Amino acid sequence: MMKILVTGGLGFIGSHTCVELLNANYEVVIIDNLSNSSIDVLEKLEEITSKRPKFYEIDACNKEKVSVVFKENKIDAVIHFAGYKAVGESVSEPLKYYRNNLDSTLTLLEVMKEYSCHNFVFSSSATVYGTPKELPIKEDFPLSTTNPYGTTKLMIERILQDVSKADKDLSIIVLRYFNPIGAHPSGLIGENPNGIPNNLMPYIVRVADKELPTLSVFGNDYNTHDGTGVRDYIHVVDLAKGHLKALEKVVNFKGIEYYNLGTGKGYSVLDLVNTFEKVNNVKVPYKIVDRRPGDIDACYADPTKAYEKLGFKAEYGIEDMCRDSYNYILKNKESQK
Ligand SMILES: NC(=O)c1ccc[n+]([C@@H]2O[C@H](COP(=O)([O-])OP(=O)(O)OC[C@H]3O[C@@H](n4cnc5c(N)ncnc54)[C@H](O)[C@@H]3O)[C@@H](O)[C@H]2O)c1
Repeated sequence: MMKILVTGGLGFIGSHTCVELLNANYEVVIIDNLSNSSIDVLEKLEEITSKRPKFYEIDACNKEKVSVVFKENKIDAVIHFAGYKAVGESVSEPLKYYRNNLDSTLTLLEVMKEYSCHNFVFSSSATVYGTPKELPIKEDFPLSTTNPYGTTKLMIERILQDVSKADKDLSIIVLRYFNPIGAHPSGLIGENPNGIPNNLMPYIVRVADKELPTLSVFGNDYNTHDGTGVRDYIHVVDLAKGHLKALEKVVNFKGIEYYNLGTGKGYSVLDLVNTFEKVNNVKVPYKIVDRRPGDIDACYADPTKAYEKLGFKAEYGIEDMCRDSYNYILKNKESQK
């Protein structure tokens, strides 16, 4: 069976992808430096799958240490999740973002070449579409960015394009994620950021749980059905499964390909709040505040290419996403008592 190196494998999307890989009998080797995750996730992966992946607590930017991983394991493909992802922090600390996100990618590509590993799947983001000219968003739309985080993703996409041109043995798939939320239905792994959350769902969950008093909704005068911003939310388990589809494809072609991973459906902030209240039978008090600079009216994927070429289709709905996000937090609290 193929051996997959998963960088950032203890993080939110990486951990869910490891579950799907292990369940599909791939051999999994994880690199994570725990900068935004906890070692406990490793136990949870074992609890869910009854298998324990090999784990290295190392920095993906450290070439010497990454080389050891390749020396000790015959890696067939790399899925590269490791990186920083907070948009606001990337504005105040751009160098930290350029250093970590670019350096980890360059290091992996160099070591892969040394060890003749040719298959690479990269976590990009819908943020590379900037302000889209129309909706839904297709993969061949023009690219631009509005913050340093997004620029790291776009720069890496350009690097991958160049590397792919120069090395005809390489197979690269760039996955552009829309908005992953939800958690594993077991409630054992999920998203629980430290401090005040930046993203909508983790914030809603904290308000529902009375850890935060009210949700601030940034603007209700956008050009959408209820005036609040519309996004394409995708259940993290669906997103994880998209990586298995990408792996099946990446070993069967040479070159570089780009895919949106989204549902193709847009939901507004208030749609999400209302659904969350309904399925979880809780209140999420909110107030409307000013728009946030840089936010766009609406953003959702055209998921056709991933469906036609990878056979990928998201299956979970918005109710499942709301239920599983809350279930994870409730279960997590129980286990801390
Ligand atoms: N969550 C989203 O909304 C979203 C959307 C689009 C793209 N992405 C991208 O997907 C990837 C995974 O996102 P996530 O939500 O799971 O984030 P996350 O922060 O939960 O996971 C990233 C993991 O990488 C680890 N890490 C960071 N730098 C590292 C390094 N140098 N060496 C080793 N480990 C390192 C962290 O400890 C963490 O476990 C990221 O590249 C992110 O930019 C995420």
